[in-house]
Amino acid sequence: MAAPNIETIVSLAKRRGFVFPSSEVYGGLGSAWDYGPLGVELCNNVKQSWWRWIVYDRDDIEGVDSSIILNRLVWKYSGHEATFNDWLIDCRKCKARFRADKISDNKCPSCGASDWTEARPFNTMLQTKLGAVADDDPTALAYLRPETAQGIFINFLNVQTTMRRKLPFGIAQVGKSFRNEVTPGNFILRTREFEQMEMEYFVSPTAEHSKLVDYWVEQYLEWFGSLGISRENLFLYEVPEGDLAHYSKRTVDVMYRYFPEREKPWEELMGIAWRTDFDLSTHSKNKVDAEGKRINPDSTEDLSYFDEPTKQRFYPHVIEPAVGVNRTVLAVLMDAFSEKTNDKGETRVILKLSPQLAPIKAAILPLAKNKPEIVGMAKAIKRSLQPVLRAVYDDTGGIGKLYARQDEIGTPFCVTVDHQSLEDEAVTVRDRDTWEQERVKVADLAEHLQKRLKPFPVTQPETI
Ligand code: GAP
Repeated sequence: MAAPNIETIVSLAKRRGFVFPSSEVYGGLGSAWDYGPLGVELCNNVKQSWWRWIVYDRDDIEGVDSSIILNRLVWKYSGHEATFNDWLIDCRKCKARFRADKISDNKCPSCGASDWTEARPFNTMLQTKLGAVADDDPTALAYLRPETAQGIFINFLNVQTTMRRKLPFGIAQVGKSFRNEVTPGNFILRTREFEQMEMEYFVSPTAEHSKLVDYWVEQYLEWFGSLGISRENLFLYEVPEGDLAHYSKRTVDVMYRYFPEREKPWEELMGIAWRTDFDLSTHSKNKVDAEGKRINPDSTEDLSYFDEPTKQRFYPHVIEPAVGVNRTVLAVLMDAFSEKTNDKGETRVILKLSPQLAPIKAAILPLAKNKPEIVGMAKAIKRSLQPVLRAVYDDTGGIGKLYARQDEIGTPFCVTVDHQSLEDEAVTVRDRDTWEQERVKVADLAEHLQKRLKPFPVTQPETI
């Protein structure tokens, strides 16, 4: 079972402290969201899981963390200044403004009229000004990055030479990106400020690029599986040639069923693109066009690569898996949502988060909060577990309420300390998904929980 719609998750997320509407005390800010105490843990766990999987578990990928604000020339030569546009149209009747590609039946979604202005481009890079300058000084213009990828390309040589890398190898980065979206919405699915996890995999121009796209698609399907996202809620979309970005020769989008209640349930979760040698060539000082003219007279570096075995110099091609943190978090929450009826016929929400992603791994609950010995023992257990896993102590309600709250936020284990614990030095461990309970010695508790929390292993193929 998954969530029936995004609204179910919006309400759970607010009620339980995952995600709040931003700037609420001033009436909010359209499509901006703040991550609460549990949301920040969930996001961090997604990012950590990705980093471990893509950087630590493999031997062919390095990490970087580049600036959000880069030299404006990066965006000139990447093509974003000229082409990172949405096409806008206005309804002449009600003056509402829309993205042209989102109007499918030629009718205005606000008033139903079909009288449109001509479509015109709107650049979606968010602008800012650097330094103490006059408002109209064009040299101060800078952009908040619309993708993390360019910070990787301009560091290609730095990473390759300092880490003594040979092709094929990749560079990964996770961080914020910004787009002045015309129609943001659907909770954290489309916002103007969001986070990306991108990896640029550099290969020879003669590599089998299409096969490598397929390889990364398979890898990501496995990774999503390890996060608890069911394969049947994912769909692969081969982007048609006419819709490819200016740098891409092939892109496969991994779509998630964000709208199960709709006729068209799919929306993009990530894209895997063969970006050709576009990016490294465009930022290079030596690359020339068909007439022998330098395509980038502003660059001071040549980002080409010398291949020792073939004694050839070339611009590497790139396979890029690009995934959003926020869209992954939303898919994870939707897939983890389930309901279960207890003995009394009451329906309870259980968030079946993969243990590696759960914000809290174990909640330590005293059965009697007016018994100092039990409270003391429960608090001591919490402290002893904390160095190995995220644990909390909670005595703010009766045991039934406490269990229900932990189920709803996805805590895999509740550890209950009772009168018997004072005598036998053992506690009850309750499983979130089965509600089964077992008695475990306090001395064995950390090891017992750690074993059961072990992340699902993602298999790595030997070679690429
Ligand atoms: N470097 C390639 C690139 O940025 P993209 O398809 O534009 O490709 C990659 O973005 C991923 O970033 C998307 O699949 C999505 O998960 C996430 N993303 C893009 N725009 C977003 C937005 N406005 N809000 C939330 N996530 C977004």
